[in-house]
Amino acid sequence: MKAKTVRIGLIGSQFITSIHAEALKGVKDAEVLAVMSPTKGHARAFAERHAIPHHFTDLDALLAMDEIDMIIIGAPNFLHCEIAVRAAAAGKHVVVEKPLCLNLAEADRMIAACAQAKVKLMYAEELCFTPKYVRLKQLLDRGALGRPVLLKQSEKHDGPHAAHFWDVERSGGGVTMDMGCHAIQFFRWLNGNDPVRSVYAQMSTSVHADKTRGDDNAIIILEFANGVTGLAEESWTKLGGMDDTAEIHGTEGVAYADVLHGNSIRTYSARGVDYAVEKAGSTVGWSFVMYEETWNYGFPQELQHFVTCVKNDEQPLLTGEDGKAVLEIIFAAYESAGSGRKVLLPSRARADRPFELWKGK
Ligand SMILES: NC(=O)c1ccc[n+]([C@@H]2O[C@H](COP(=O)([O-])OP(=O)(O)OC[C@H]3O[C@@H](n4cnc5c(N)ncnc54)[C@H](O)[C@@H]3O)[C@@H](O)[C@H]2O)c1
Repeated sequence: MKAKTVRIGLIGSQFITSIHAEALKGVKDAEVLAVMSPTKGHARAFAERHAIPHHFTDLDALLAMDEIDMIIIGAPNFLHCEIAVRAAAAGKHVVVEKPLCLNLAEADRMIAACAQAKVKLMYAEELCFTPKYVRLKQLLDRGALGRPVLLKQSEKHDGPHAAHFWDVERSGGGVTMDMGCHAIQFFRWLNGNDPVRSVYAQMSTSVHADKTRGDDNAIIILEFANGVTGLAEESWTKLGGMDDTAEIHGTEGVAYADVLHGNSIRTYSARGVDYAVEKAGSTVGWSFVMYEETWNYGFPQELQHFVTCVKNDEQPLLTGEDGKAVLEIIFAAYESAGSGRKVLLPSRARADRPFELWKGK
């Protein structure tokens, strides 16, 4: 690359894009040039808040800026493919938030478009950069735990903040799609990308049937070819703020990591605090107050990695192929929940959205 910095366009202006903008403030060689959101006034307000020089309501207008090297997609799941393909055609490197897209055909289109345009397709999975989980993986890699036997990961909160997550047409599925994707990529990363042999999943819509046809609780079991088991527990019905935990059980040891509680300030307040942690509905009484939440989750580290890959033309840790592999496992999880049986990979079941393999169209 000729330029000294990687010049970035942000797509979206709400929850995750705010995290991206904050995280990028600490990323070396990155410069945010523009933000785009179709909702009138949002991109402008976002640009003012973060001192970003350009703002657009139209994607093509942002993509027409020659100076932009890379875009980061923080739009709802059903738009990831279309935005990525258009950005690739405009010659931009693409970072896409999880899950990669809605189905495997879309994943193939994104991968092909980026390959044809010779731009990088980078899959944003921050758990592979979360400092506590990076240290956890080191314990395994350096032999402290012996050979891995069981990997566990769990994310739980009381449900998403925006309507598109609840609408399976736009999201593709419920909590398995939204948070199961984190656990699946986390297991693949810990386990050296060993192939997954089978998937079993139990899903239910236990509390939020008034809001969604998607799953709000899920237990997903992965069996890897090397014999390791991955067990993910995901919930959209857990009150009291976000939980994010992982365990590695090995032949010579065990390690437990809690990203949000272990690091937090245990607080009791009769009035409640201004902000405790993501998705903490009420903070009256006991709460777990986080500090440096974005750093503790690994977002600046993740974006630093992607910026460095673009600047130095290096291979990213997470690519479109990883996003596709995660999606394939998500499809198998919904298929298993639908059939009540363990699903062997590769599965031949196809659908436009993973959710359909559980409950039909
Ligand atoms: N890595 C994580 O932990 C994490 C956390 C939250 C969300 N996400 C992912 O980020 C994505 C966005 O989620 P969010 O929580 O920010 O949602 P959000 O509803 O807070 O924001 C979505 C944004 O997309 C914009 N948008 C809508 N239509 C668009 C279009 N046609 N073109 C461009 N932008 C458009 C909206 O204007 C809004 O700014 C989802 O795919 C979600 O899964 C990842």
